[in-house]
Amino acid sequence: MGFLSGKKALIVGVANNKSIAYGIAKQMAEQGAEIALTYQSDKLKSRVEKIADELGCKIVLPLDVTSDEQIEAVFSALSANWDELNILVHSVAFAPREELDGRMIEASSRAGFAMAHDISAYSLTALTKAGYSLLKAGNGAVLTLSYLGAERAVPNYNVMGIAKASLEATVRYLAADLGQDGIRVNAVSAGPIRTLAAAGIKDFRSMLDKAALATPLRRNVTITEVGNTAAFLCSDLASGITGEITYVDGGYNITAST
Ligand SMILES: NC(=O)c1ccc[n+]([C@@H]2O[C@H](COP(=O)([O-])OP(=O)(O)OC[C@H]3O[C@@H](n4cnc5c(N)ncnc54)[C@H](O)[C@@H]3O)[C@@H](O)[C@H]2O)c1
Repeated sequence: MGFLSGKKALIVGVANNKSIAYGIAKQMAEQGAEIALTYQSDKLKSRVEKIADELGCKIVLPLDVTSDEQIEAVFSALSANWDELNILVHSVAFAPREELDGRMIEASSRAGFAMAHDISAYSLTALTKAGYSLLKAGNGAVLTLSYLGAERAVPNYNVMGIAKASLEATVRYLAADLGQDGIRVNAVSAGPIRTLAAAGIKDFRSMLDKAALATPLRRNVTITEVGNTAAFLCSDLASGITGEITYVDGGYNITAST
């Protein structure tokens, strides 16, 4: 019996089997959680359905986090099947590609800022808000994914770093507010991993190589390692932890830049 046995988890952000959300879903399923998945658009539907089959998920729903109607529809579909929600994973981010390329002063725009913050930061509040009663019923644990660019100026990360700073502040505000309801809110700050989203960042490959060399563990982390930490943080083993940003980056964040 796994340490998430009997837990019901909604995981938002699986695009394919390289996604961090896939690593999280897999490790959570391995620990006995029942998983529901969402897919952003019809383009991703069949891929996510295949993953759902692999993980034994019975609930697979469309969800674009910019749509309040779709967010509502997801939670009403969930409440038709489940009396409570124990885990909500938010593994979603987006900024226009041209914002993640070159100098901040040239790449930034008002529209890009608004879009990056809406999809990558506000959506955590929107999902938690819509799922509030189910999460309250389930002593829920909410988990999101951040990156070191929230705290340090990482080349080309630009507006996404600012959105991640907002996301990390959101974790603290939601944790402070929802603790009284028995709901915990945390983030994992992951080291660089080759995924679809990461491919949008200019020079991502060289960022991966540099991080591997400068990391205390001398390698990059995997989606399985992020998934294991996510599973722990969303389990009763972590019942005393909320409002935290936990690094799964091989120790990179403790080093001075080289
Ligand atoms: N890959 C990395 O190096 C890295 C490092 C640290 C943190 N992260 C974070 O991990 C999270 C997951 O990213 P990933 O690297 O697994 O890439 P990914 O491309 O596999 O996942 C990103 C997901 O966001 C979804 N998404 C984007 N816009 C959306 C919208 N409007 N509505 C609903 N879903 C939307 C995509 O469909 C996709 O499933 C992101 O928050 C990312 O910033 C990634």
